[in-house]
Amino acid sequence: MDTEVSAASQELKGGGVVVLPTETVYGLAANALDVEAVRKIFIIKGRPLNNPLILHVLDSSWLKRYTHAEKYSTRVAKITDAFWPGPITIILPKKEIIPNIVTSGFDTVAVRCPDHSLFREVLRASDLPLAAPSANPFGYVSPTSLRQVKATIGNKIKIMLDGGECAVGLESTIVDITCPIPKILRPGAIIADAISKVLGENVIDYHTQIVSKSPNTPGQLKQHYCTNTRLILFEYGHRKFSQNPVGRTVILFMQKPKNLRRIAKNLQFPIEEIFWFSDDGNPNVIAKNLFSMLQQLDSAQYDTILCERPLREGIGIAIDDRLLRAAAKFNG
Ligand code: TXA
Ligand code: MG
Repeated sequence: MDTEVSAASQELKGGGVVVLPTETVYGLAANALDVEAVRKIFIIKGRPLNNPLILHVLDSSWLKRYTHAEKYSTRVAKITDAFWPGPITIILPKKEIIPNIVTSGFDTVAVRCPDHSLFREVLRASDLPLAAPSANPFGYVSPTSLRQVKATIGNKIKIMLDGGECAVGLESTIVDITCPIPKILRPGAIIADAISKVLGENVIDYHTQIVSKSPNTPGQLKQHYCTNTRLILFEYGHRKFSQNPVGRTVILFMQKPKNLRRIAKNLQFPIEEIFWFSDDGNPNVIAKNLFSMLQQLDSAQYDTILCERPLREGIGIAIDDRLLRAAAKFNG
């Protein structure tokens, strides 16, 4: 076995916390069955205990160890056959063996099967279910490379595995399949339509108004993923700003503007302070670059980031969700 995989596995078995790559974002993992190990995650992140964690498993055969998946066996089989391993988390009734600290006292648990070879090797080697939130300080932008983890909580963790840049870049879709009609609790790369097709039944999609109302699920906070730099959003394609930029400002477009020079001139902006998430507007590329771009600009000493909102369709719903939460701190 790879030495770093075996070192991570030993650390986890001994009650330690390690940083592991997933296909979505980097995770801060601990043995979910060890209360003291899980407590370390909350302390390192500064995360409130009422924000439950996701349990990571090697494959669907592990579900019976930790959940009452049999109560929803048809839905579970359809989703896991179609999407696992992959960026979708399902809510299931938990078994007694899962400590309350993982689920914040709820009788359900969120379970996901990550699609990154390093994470999977650690799951296989340790044979432990791993509780793992994103490896960022609570409320801050999620990390999609090890460099981003090192820039924030890295000095608090001994073992960190480098799996390159995360392929998806946004946290997993969360779907509650214990409801009469399955419901999206957090939008992600796997969209409601795709889940609905696989299940052969209706799925209640996530609505962005959750941001302006109170959260309807634990841990879904109005403010999250926040930059330190003031972040102001503007409508897709509008080139108009509802609040005046303050101080040194950058503009962040979804896609490289075709007429960059003219746009810079019209906006009276230096060209070098105009950035974009993707060259051609490919939404998967935008998702992949979202958090790394925000973190890069956040550490570049600007006073304001003016950021365009995406088209709200497909994965754009998840991108928009993260941006709205990131900007919520600066609205009003
Ligand atoms: O892609 C991902 O899911 C990443 C990687 C590391 O796997 N993990 C992740 O974890 O995003 P975290 O801790 O940042 O988000 C977990 C969220 C909670 O904030 C909450 O909204 C939801 O999962 N959650 C957990 N348990 C739940 C439960 N029993 N019922 C409803 N929502 C739950
Ligand atoms: Mg997170």
